Amino acid sequence: MERTLVILKPDCLARRLVGEVVGRFEWKGLQIVGMKMLKISPAVARKMYAIHRGEEFYQPLVRFMTSGPVVVMALEGKDAVAVVRKMLGPTFGPDAPPGSIRGDLGMSKRYNLVHGSDTRETAGRELPLFFKQGELLTGTAPDFGQIYDTTGPEPV
Ligand code: RTP
Ligand code: MG
Repeated sequence: MERTLVILKPDCLARRLVGEVVGRFEWKGLQIVGMKMLKISPAVARKMYAIHRGEEFYQPLVRFMTSGPVVVMALEGKDAVAVVRKMLGPTFGPDAPPGSIRGDLGMSKRYNLVHGSDTRETAGRELPLFFKQGELLTGTAPDFGQIYDTTGPEPV
């Protein structure tokens, strides 16, 4: 099973949308294997978004991500990285289609509510920024056999 890092950004908490967004991931069938509320330090924000250093939106992005509390979650499921990215929709709310989190809930090109790791490799780098070894749940969720067909050699 694949794991991905999701961050409910400061606007998501300020607008009281935590329940709505967490609910969508739960309803989809992703398993929450770790979850905590914290304030991201500038050092961690800079590390997370290092790829964008030099862009004109980099400083405002770091400022935004460190401006208030966030909720970080580790979600697990088959192809969890791609599934979460699809649920978020395109980066900017005004471009994101209805049905996606950003499409349904946001209007901004900066305050875009939720982060999801963009590849498996990124998830592998980002998860340890927020969760220590041993902090994430292991083992099979009790409803695994309802979420997937587990009658064959691989869950489908
Ligand atoms: P995120 O990393 O936050 O999940 O967003 P993303 O993958 O959809 O987008 P990414 O390209 O990684 O950009 C990170 C954040 O930078 C801001 N951004 N602004 N041209 C711009 O003004 C611009 N491009 C990116 C967004 O807030 C985006 O979430
Ligand atoms: Mg990104």
